[in-house]
Amino acid sequence: MHAVNGDLYHREREISLLQEVIAGLALGRPAVVTVHGPRGMGKSALLNVVPRLLPEGALVLRARCHPSESGFPYSMVRQLFDPVLGAAGRGETFIPAEAHGSSGEAAGPTHEALLHLLSTTRSLAADRPVAVLVDDLQYADEPSLRWFSYIARRLDDLPVLLAATLPDSAAARVTEELGPLPYLNRLWPEPLCSTCTTELVDRAFDSPVDQGLAALCDALAHGNPMVLHDLVNRLRREHVPPGAPDPQQVLPIGAQALSETVLAWLDEDDPAAGELLTQLAVLGPDTDPAMCGALSQHGEVQVLQARDALVRAGLLEAGPPARFPHAAVRPAVLARVPAEDRLHLHGRAATVLARLGAPARQTAEHLVKAGCEWGLDVLRDAGRAG
Ligand SMILES: Nc1ncnc2c1ncn2[C@@H]1O[C@H](COP(=O)(O)OP(=O)(O)OP(=O)(O)O)[C@@H](O)[C@H]1O
Ligand SMILES: [Mg+2]
Repeated sequence: MHAVNGDLYHREREISLLQEVIAGLALGRPAVVTVHGPRGMGKSALLNVVPRLLPEGALVLRARCHPSESGFPYSMVRQLFDPVLGAAGRGETFIPAEAHGSSGEAAGPTHEALLHLLSTTRSLAADRPVAVLVDDLQYADEPSLRWFSYIARRLDDLPVLLAATLPDSAAARVTEELGPLPYLNRLWPEPLCSTCTTELVDRAFDSPVDQGLAALCDALAHGNPMVLHDLVNRLRREHVPPGAPDPQQVLPIGAQALSETVLAWLDEDDPAAGELLTQLAVLGPDTDPAMCGALSQHGEVQVLQARDALVRAGLLEAGPPARFPHAAVRPAVLARVPAEDRLHLHGRAATVLARLGAPARQTAEHLVKAGCEWGLDVLRDAGRAG
């Protein structure tokens, strides 16, 4: 049984670490916390917990970075400081003019600019703890990112917590930028366990749900809170009864939720894994990696890496035999593959199989699915031969 922290399940470890570093602020121990993880795993939600863990009177500076603002120098720093310095009506520009090139273009932060920002932060933290919270640091504009790592290395004994979220893909770069820091803590919020998943679903339905329905939510969300919330919201919107759901009603809803979350992310983040998933949905989940390699022209090693990525994302059970973890996965993938692409894939599979000297029956089955009428003749001959 996992305790609930506000609305957050399965986050006891992370929250107690945050409590610990926040308690350290009063003792003059600064902290930098980075929250990593795949999409939708609850990085922002964890960052949002920080303000309520802080002591009364603490100052919270927040920024949320967005790709559309990455090109604007100091946009992240401004988001952080404008509300306190602007509202105070001090009329001081906390970003010195020399931080910009003469043309007005970003010239990268000068040392003076960084020192000035550091002293601003010092004065804000003179008589209270300060939490600087940055969501999606990977989209920060370059000078602000430089500021972040500069100040992170110079917190000395300031009661300052710097906390930022970033996806796994950006983790290495930012960690390198920060360098070795004695007070750096890295958090990787874990997937929700099946107990937490069931509790969350029960709570969303306001009653204990059917075991099969809970298992579907668990298999499709694979512990990802964003996918789980999306799925549960759809089930509720479609008035799926929690007690005795009709699988015919539930399956398409599950497939749709999967398609619009995990599969859409996969297309953007890991196209090779997306391509493999399409092949496996069309040709069958236990299709030989050598065959998939030949079809994608990626080579077997890359196919095996893509396969691991699918297993990690909960879209494939490694087996043997390899299987989809739930009946909703295959239709969700197939719904995204145009009919002519499916035919084409079967046609190419037949060619590859013939080239590899596979049994005629196997080749002919793909020919039939590719719409080649003579595939039936091959199939009949193969049957007679067998
Ligand atoms: N531990 C949790 N328990 C229950 N719900 C959660 C938990 N963590 C996050 N959520 C919910 O899941 C959804 C996604 O969370 P969040 O936006 O924090 O993910 P993220 O990792 O920041 O996503 P992204 O990669 O898009 O930035 C939100 O609705 C959030 O409230
Ligand atoms: Mg987020």
